Amino acid sequence: MHSSSNKNQTWSNLEKHCKEISKKSLIELFNENPNRGSDFSTSFEDLWVDVSKQIVDSKTIQLLSDLAEESKINQFFVDMMAGSPVNLTEKKPALHTALRAPKDSRILVEGKDVVPKITETLEKMEEFSRHIRNGKLLGSTGAPITSVVALGIGGSNLGSSMAHKALSKFAHPEITIKFCSSIDAVDLDQTLDGLNPETTLFLVTSKSFDTRETLLLMENAKKWLEGSIVATGLSKHFVGITSSRDKAINFGFEESMIFDLPDWVGGRFSLSSAAGLVLMISIGPDEFSHLLSGMNRIDNKTVSESLESNGALLLAVIDIWNRSFLDYPTMAVIPYSSQMSYFPQYLQQLMMESLGKNNRNDEHEFGSSVGSVVWGATGTESQHAFFQFLHQGTDVVPCEMLGFSSSYDPSNQDQQNSLFANLLAQSETLAFGSAIEENLVHEKKLEGNRPSTVILAPKLTPFILGQLISLYEHRTVASGVIWGVNPFDQWGVELGKSIAIDIELEIGDASSSKDATTRNSSTEKLLDRFRSFRNI
Ligand code: F6P
Repeated sequence: MHSSSNKNQTWSNLEKHCKEISKKSLIELFNENPNRGSDFSTSFEDLWVDVSKQIVDSKTIQLLSDLAEESKINQFFVDMMAGSPVNLTEKKPALHTALRAPKDSRILVEGKDVVPKITETLEKMEEFSRHIRNGKLLGSTGAPITSVVALGIGGSNLGSSMAHKALSKFAHPEITIKFCSSIDAVDLDQTLDGLNPETTLFLVTSKSFDTRETLLLMENAKKWLEGSIVATGLSKHFVGITSSRDKAINFGFEESMIFDLPDWVGGRFSLSSAAGLVLMISIGPDEFSHLLSGMNRIDNKTVSESLESNGALLLAVIDIWNRSFLDYPTMAVIPYSSQMSYFPQYLQQLMMESLGKNNRNDEHEFGSSVGSVVWGATGTESQHAFFQFLHQGTDVVPCEMLGFSSSYDPSNQDQQNSLFANLLAQSETLAFGSAIEENLVHEKKLEGNRPSTVILAPKLTPFILGQLISLYEHRTVASGVIWGVNPFDQWGVELGKSIAIDIELEIGDASSSKDATTRNSSTEKLLDRFRSFRNI
């Protein structure tokens, strides 16, 4: 039941302020304050976060800071990192930060320190990864494992596949790593093409161990192995990563081949857990520990800094400003790095599954839109695809550009410079348009005033990627808390999953079809057409 709107005095002040500042252009804002580039940027560990080309001034930031403070976001982070049950609808903690906390920390959940178990799992992951990397893990025929196929979907895939791509420069050169998440049979066929069953290990990541897609992939992987490996040897080729150890054992996984996911880590926040095993195998335990340290650095900063110097909070309130006040429904994330090509997809789950909510915790109405559509693609390629829309389209899309100063190989620095030049050129053009060009015909004019944020980092390393991931995790959580939604649940995806199971039964057995009153005429007609295309 919804009662009155959540809007308070600060919210109303922001609405009023929004009407005033909307009359100004970014050119005017930059003219008013020649120091915007530094006044509206912050250094957050190794990340430089520049929001100076957002439509904000110091009053906006002050009011947004008040809003954040009223939501008690700082206390929320303290509680979250201390293991309180901040995931209200599921009544459990959201303790991803514990996974990268120093080993001598003490973090209590219902009176029990969770750190020893985290350390035990991490050490088991390290030993296992080293074994594979040194060619000592043998398959059932005695051949060393040289290929690892990660099966899993959503949070059990997007973080690790994104990070594996991002850190491919750090990957073990002789281990083939592949990911498969789709139940489209072509996907697994293509993934397995060229692999040798005797030297292939499947990592099945599923927190629940009952995700239909992942279980189907696992069954099909078994069939593929069975052609070459006797059934008794199959368990040597499967690792389970799950919160549901019993279910994995029922499926035939060996106890020692199961890595535990804590119940309190959400899939989309799980890269620093055993869900990161595939990444650890690829980049090695040492580099993986740098990733964790990068995350931990940002965790500590997020919980201790005030908004002006807190990159995560600053980005969160800018998201709220753009969505709930300036009313921009989408945001584009544009990494100027081909290694980061999966980052927008990863963020789609992180941000949209966390913030795509139409009910507040206190059941008040929102009184504004909440949660943005997140999309994007790598920099220079997208300039030749959708940037026309960003510059001259009738809708404004706030952009977030990610850049890195140094290339891996100093001899490629010229190209790195070129990437950054493109990033800056686009961000500048979005903001100021064609104002300095005179006598342009109208179709060549760019009005500008299109907001963007720039996040600049020194180099794409595990330590820096860890910082970026943690930054986005905390920014997402902070937006959720300030908006008053639970960023840790995803009830919206459940109904569709169960309907798919019913429909799949119907497809297999037409006689089990529900009549049109219990289903609907559209689904029934589409099922008919599906069968007739197949001549059944
Ligand atoms: O799509 C919903 C979801 O529950 C995600 O939140 C989760 O990451 C994904 O499915 C996979 O779930 P599991 O790890 O339990 O297989």
